Amino acid sequence: MQSIDEIRRRLKNQNQEHILRFWDELDDDKRDKFLRQLSTIHIEKVNDLFERADSSFKQLEKTYLDEKMKPIPPSQFQSEESCSPKTLETYRNLGLEEISNGHVGVLLMAGGQGTRLGVSYPKGMYSVQLPSGKTLFQIQAERIRRLQTLAKERTGESGRIPWYIMTSGPTDKATLKFLAANKYFGLDPDDVVIFKQGLLPCFDFDGKILLDEKDSVALAPDGNGGIYRALSQNGILDDMEKRGVKYIHVHSVDNILVKVADPVFIGYCKSKEADCGAKVVKKNSPTEAVGVVCLVDGRFQVVEYSEITENTAKLTDNKGDLVFSAGNICNHFFTVDFLKEIAKNHEEKLKLHVAKKKIPYINDDGDLIKPQKPQGIKIEKFVFDVFEFTKKFVTWEVPRKSEFSAMKNADSEKKDCPATARSDLLALHKSYIEKAGGVVKCDQVEISPLLSYDGENLEKRVKGKVFNSETVLDPEEA
Ligand code: UD1
Repeated sequence: MQSIDEIRRRLKNQNQEHILRFWDELDDDKRDKFLRQLSTIHIEKVNDLFERADSSFKQLEKTYLDEKMKPIPPSQFQSEESCSPKTLETYRNLGLEEISNGHVGVLLMAGGQGTRLGVSYPKGMYSVQLPSGKTLFQIQAERIRRLQTLAKERTGESGRIPWYIMTSGPTDKATLKFLAANKYFGLDPDDVVIFKQGLLPCFDFDGKILLDEKDSVALAPDGNGGIYRALSQNGILDDMEKRGVKYIHVHSVDNILVKVADPVFIGYCKSKEADCGAKVVKKNSPTEAVGVVCLVDGRFQVVEYSEITENTAKLTDNKGDLVFSAGNICNHFFTVDFLKEIAKNHEEKLKLHVAKKKIPYINDDGDLIKPQKPQGIKIEKFVFDVFEFTKKFVTWEVPRKSEFSAMKNADSEKKDCPATARSDLLALHKSYIEKAGGVVKCDQVEISPLLSYDGENLEKRVKGKVFNSETVLDPEEA
């Protein structure tokens, strides 16, 4: 641990000495705790990050990317809806074989703080009040279990899919406790690997570090692009290598429809020999607030709606479809070799993004202020900012109704919220049952992921049956 004199000297050099302004009031225990925290903060690097983030933010505010953007070339794009059943089957079988070979892992990004949803616990622990009461974590774990069974049915070999979960300071303890208390929802605990992403100090608009207590710097997770540093610092890339994992499906925690380790997506990426892939959905309108996957100056990138003019967002082709329609759903494929390459050669150079937020802080009088409007800055890296380093990038467009319903907001927003997540999942399950020959007369019929991953295996349970009341179709009832 560094001495207080050494820390004070370095803070002074970097114009951040104000964070010690309550030092004289602190008792020994508090000083000790604060000193331990300060020793972990590399102040020169942190100031440098702020400078870089701030200058790229100011640059972005002045420029639009319209002139530089091109849509994804057809050779690197395929849409599930326009694929023949035979091609889909080929991709699916390839993916299941890779699962059986033990080559596939899942990386769930669960380090976000879920402020828009307004809960104080990790989003994965959220229950959208399905008939089964299942949480997002349980649904995702059970999809992994079902896939392991499907892979075994296909090849005779049951591959294990390791579930890597990235948490952060604010979500780590609760996630660990919840998963252990629920016995990892039936997964082998050895296959569940939980690791923490990094934290960065929060700043005011002038680059001054904020305190959240008199003896504590306000810290926040370094964005979902923090995975690359976290993967190497926590030995996760080594773990993947040891297990023989070659392909990783990375996704966000909040999409209730996410096809975890989707064999079709994995099979597609593998057959194209891609090192990096993105699942996308067609944007539902030019103004939908999702990033679009496209080329910028010849390199793949996700461009936010705010970075282009409305005219470009509205551009249509000769069929009347949006030119920039590939909506990013935070659902990616990477080879482990590509992740290693990023960690080794590119992580330090990843773009830095500025997020202006309401960050509680201690003012000069020592009072805790909870701001009513954004007054602070969090610096974040984004998971997709590695696309520019790929050697072979592909995009896979999937139907929104079967793959994407994200839970971002509280129900009061009426969109992308628990109520829409619940109704989208139940509508999908209804369509699976109807396809298998059942009739659903009540919109509260849920299919356990342990029974069916994406609509298979239902006929013998539902054909000719009418569902009039709330039901959960579990495998045990068979
Ligand atoms: C994300 C995408 C956006 C896409 C949208 C679709 C990014 C940067 N943006 O936006 O392009 O259109 O999803 O739903 O990917 N997370 C961490 N650590 C962090 C911050 C976030 O693990 O420090 C995780 C969250 O827990 C979540 C995922 O990353 O699982 C997405 O983060 P979020 O902040 O919700 O991104 P969006 O703004 O929704």
